[in-house]
Amino acid sequence: MKSNKNILVSASVLGADLTAVRDAVSLCEKSGIDVLHIDVMDGHFVPQITFGNKFTSDIKKITHLPLDVHLMVNSPSIFIDDYITAGADSISFHIENDIHINRTLNSIKEKGVKAGICLVPSTPVSALSEIIDIVDFIQVMTVNPGFSGQKMILSCIKKIGELDKLREIKDLNYKILVDGGVNRDTAGMLVDAGADVLITASAFFNSKNPAEEVLILKNSGRKQISG
Ligand code: DX5
Ligand code: ZN
Repeated sequence: MKSNKNILVSASVLGADLTAVRDAVSLCEKSGIDVLHIDVMDGHFVPQITFGNKFTSDIKKITHLPLDVHLMVNSPSIFIDDYITAGADSISFHIENDIHINRTLNSIKEKGVKAGICLVPSTPVSALSEIIDIVDFIQVMTVNPGFSGQKMILSCIKKIGELDKLREIKDLNYKILVDGGVNRDTAGMLVDAGADVLITASAFFNSKNPAEEVLILKNSGRKQISG
């Protein structure tokens, strides 16, 4: 049963006005955001170049919120230590561009940082079979990574359901995160399918009432219990 579980909302800093990032972080804190999501892009794995470890460590100094670093870079394993030193509480990278996935995941976990794996829309859940029992979380990309503000690719939602079923069958505890096109219209389907953490950039930062947006996302999928 998915209803009434505690959904976390993670804000992707990519959606903020970066000339006023301190204000953006404090808006997240005041609005009930649970996690700050830092989208690291290298201009190779994805078209844009965004933040580095210096940005991440500067953000760490101004917030108590946990930092979740999403590495959209080629050769992610060579950057892991930099982001751990910068203060990442969790780090995810893409299964599509690392060969020694097992080693990379363990190199994150052994430093006491949560380790996650991300799947682009064209990667099936079956690609995870050999590492699914060692991940702390799985991040289902519901857009092709690279930009905020894209429309959700609805066919990706079935992967959330598959992952939810698999963790029950295998008695695993990984969390399911969803990234891309999350908003008040899509959140209910994601939570019903089994998502635990909703990542949002544009729906949160472009909202006239960001705190209300967070509440709506957190309550999506909740069923009214009558009688
Ligand atoms: C996409 C990033 C996302 C993005 C989400 O490549 O990984 O985290 O910022 O943006 P929205 O919520 O606007 O789709
Ligand atoms: Zn992301």
